[in-house]
Amino acid sequence: MLGVPQADWDFMLKLTMIAFGADENAGTDPQRIAEAHTELLVYYDNLLARRRRDPQEDIVSALAHGTVDGAPLTDEEILLNCNGLISGGNETTRHATIGGLLALLRAPDQWARLRAEPGLLPSAVRRPPSAVQEILRFTSPALHVLRTARREVDLGGHRIRTGDQVAVWLPAANRDEAVFADPDRFDIAHTPNRHLTFATGTHFCLGSALATSELTIFFEEFLARVGQVTPRGAPRRMQSNLIWGFTSLPVTLTRRATPSRRPVPTSQVGPEDL
Ligand code: HEM
Repeated sequence: MLGVPQADWDFMLKLTMIAFGADENAGTDPQRIAEAHTELLVYYDNLLARRRRDPQEDIVSALAHGTVDGAPLTDEEILLNCNGLISGGNETTRHATIGGLLALLRAPDQWARLRAEPGLLPSAVRRPPSAVQEILRFTSPALHVLRTARREVDLGGHRIRTGDQVAVWLPAANRDEAVFADPDRFDIAHTPNRHLTFATGTHFCLGSALATSELTIFFEEFLARVGQVTPRGAPRRMQSNLIWGFTSLPVTLTRRATPSRRPVPTSQVGPEDL
């Protein structure tokens, strides 16, 4: 979508993994992380120059040649949008996928139920129950968002003053026992399920429909093709206070004896679902 040539996809994935601490070899060295962010920006700076000269059907070209209120975007705006899109795209959904598989492995009754009732999988935020929405609530890969209080408010017995910076811990909100009954239980039929995995308000995740579709398609294909999943070791968590994710989850998969067709048509997620 961004217009990064396929030959560079592995390189860009590697850089985003290092930039967010998901690459075990690179570790969490702040200098290496800063370098990876810089390398991403430099890559997009070069791509931007190419698309200015020779526009294509992609987002970088659209940002390079588009205007807002009659004025073009600045280079800084374009590069930071590219960085936000590639980080949002690479460093979130795959952790929800891995975490969803782990949650299903740890709750064999839910795994059996999903196999028996694959219609529970597809999702639309306002149409529970949906296993995909429960995976999103339960795995909550974005750990926190930061907000600045615009007015004084009392929240949960705490006074928040105008101008205070407040970190909203999304997995904690998704396990709020005042909102969710038995919040630590993974239940693919959890209803209602108004989680905050994609945050809320002005900055509500731009990629939520894409992420939801990706998860739905992944698990549809998985159910159709995979017979048994056997853990081969403990999951390894990323060291990060931004992303609640994994560096690995070793498993052995066996093929289904008779691969079934995808059990349900992939849901079409439209704006009305958000
Ligand atoms: C499970 C997957 C995902 C999760 C958990 C997630 C989470 C979030 C959260 C919590 C925010 C709000 C940030 C804030 O309020 O400060 C956000 C914003 C954003 N996300 Fe996602 N995201 C996911 C997938 C994606 C994908 C696939 C893309 C792009 C391809 C994406 C692109 C963005 C962008 C560009 C923003 C900024 C929106 C704005 O500031 O207006 N995200 N995401």
